[in-house]
Amino acid sequence: MSVQSNDIGLIGLGVMGRNLVLNMADNGFAVAAYNRTSSVTQEFASRLEAGQQVQPFFSLEDLVGSLKKPRRIMMMVAAGQAVDAVIGEVEPLLEPGDVIIDGGNSHFADTARRGEALEAKAIHLLGVGISGGGFGARHGPSMMPGGQKDAYESVRPIFEAMAARVNDTPCVAYLGPRGAGHYVKTVHNGIEYSIMQLIGETYALMKEGKGFTNEQLADIYAEWDAAELKSYLVEITSQIFRRHDEKTGGYVVDSILGEAEQHGTGMWTSQSAMDLHVPVPNIDIAVAMRNLSALEEERKTAAQLLRPARATAGTGLSRSSNAEAAEGVGDLPVNSLRNALYAALIITYAQGFAQLQTASKALEFDLRLDDVAAIWRGGCIIRSVLLNEIRTIFERHHELSNLMLDPELSRGIISRRPDLARTVAAGVHSGIPVPGMMAALAYLDAYRAEWLPLNLIQAQRDYFGSHTYRRIDEAGSFHTDWLSPEGGEEKREQG
Ligand code: 6PG
Repeated sequence: MSVQSNDIGLIGLGVMGRNLVLNMADNGFAVAAYNRTSSVTQEFASRLEAGQQVQPFFSLEDLVGSLKKPRRIMMMVAAGQAVDAVIGEVEPLLEPGDVIIDGGNSHFADTARRGEALEAKAIHLLGVGISGGGFGARHGPSMMPGGQKDAYESVRPIFEAMAARVNDTPCVAYLGPRGAGHYVKTVHNGIEYSIMQLIGETYALMKEGKGFTNEQLADIYAEWDAAELKSYLVEITSQIFRRHDEKTGGYVVDSILGEAEQHGTGMWTSQSAMDLHVPVPNIDIAVAMRNLSALEEERKTAAQLLRPARATAGTGLSRSSNAEAAEGVGDLPVNSLRNALYAALIITYAQGFAQLQTASKALEFDLRLDDVAAIWRGGCIIRSVLLNEIRTIFERHHELSNLMLDPELSRGIISRRPDLARTVAAGVHSGIPVPGMMAALAYLDAYRAEWLPLNLIQAQRDYFGSHTYRRIDEAGSFHTDWLSPEGGEEKREQG
């Protein structure tokens, strides 16, 4: 066994872990690999090809002993207790200056807590969001590192070599201290949830409202992917619709149960946004729709009791009883749908980046949003051509609180608003739920409204709870004695 010759160790040889090991080795780094279940390590070792600089280990002591100092150890284990368990086992084997890297989807607050505990022993923790699935891990993921800057410098050559590249720039950049990397990855996933929900809505409208076949859908998504909607998620959507099911002879997509599962990152995005008072309705609704999809039994009962009024291709619902419904989506041009999706995607990115901007200040991450946009351009699940433009906008204006305030991007949204509204209306008429499109439209209209009826809410709060309100014409807090017709208004001291 070689002593202190490996550049990096990796613990956890699941799909992501093993692909990252091979990626690092391809890029010229000597990698030590370990999995708690030795049969997994054995199986992985048996697949290694001659010349691949990967050394499998069956004990953590041996793995740690094989690493150059300061040691760099990456964990690719399930978020949660497993991360604490692995840190607990590895940490006694390490020395000050060594670096542990958590490459899983950990909660940013857990990363901050773990980092602080390790820092007391001068061991550094980098929380690194890694996006791109197994293929990305093998051929170039987008990597979102956070933690101590010096610790990042020690892994930087490895990360820059293994990350995806766009115009020869690696899709990795140091993002900020503590849980900054995992925070950015969480918001990435929140955006991912919303984009998937929105694409799903266009699918529902075209399948149920227009009766398009899977092959037609595949063609449309491929066409969309060839222009302004060019993105990984639209691209794979097209490919999904072409895949045949060996069991049924039909299409795989039609055999899949419509209950979306989740590991929690979308929910964490929404939870954090609520904590920070940042509106991200598209992410909220995307999480809610996954939760709703899981109410299998209730939905069966509701489908009978509440009778969805849809003119669905092939459902046998008569056109006459659903004439209006059929015309709702039937009349909607596919190009309107494309424009609606494009507008809703921009609005989703706007919400996600607005959350990052606020979080950056509130949680003292000091994020550079142009860097975030840059490293999301390649390798990750939400990569899209739109991110080039978003990057340029944040390069010009680092502090921009909302992308919709960029004049050019806002023109792109406003010019497509009629199609977004038309799409929402068609969905409503046809009884096809389009909550993501609705949320995007409502967010846009609310955000740009000079007047919102929230003065009434303030009046109500003051009426029942004496919570006071501010006036449009005078500074200070005021309370009206609403119960007494003669009672006037009084100015209240703040505090
Ligand atoms: C990525 C993905 C990845 C994973 C998600 C799926 O960026 O590569 O987001 O992290 O596929 O965890 O999340 P859900 O299981 O919650 O949909």
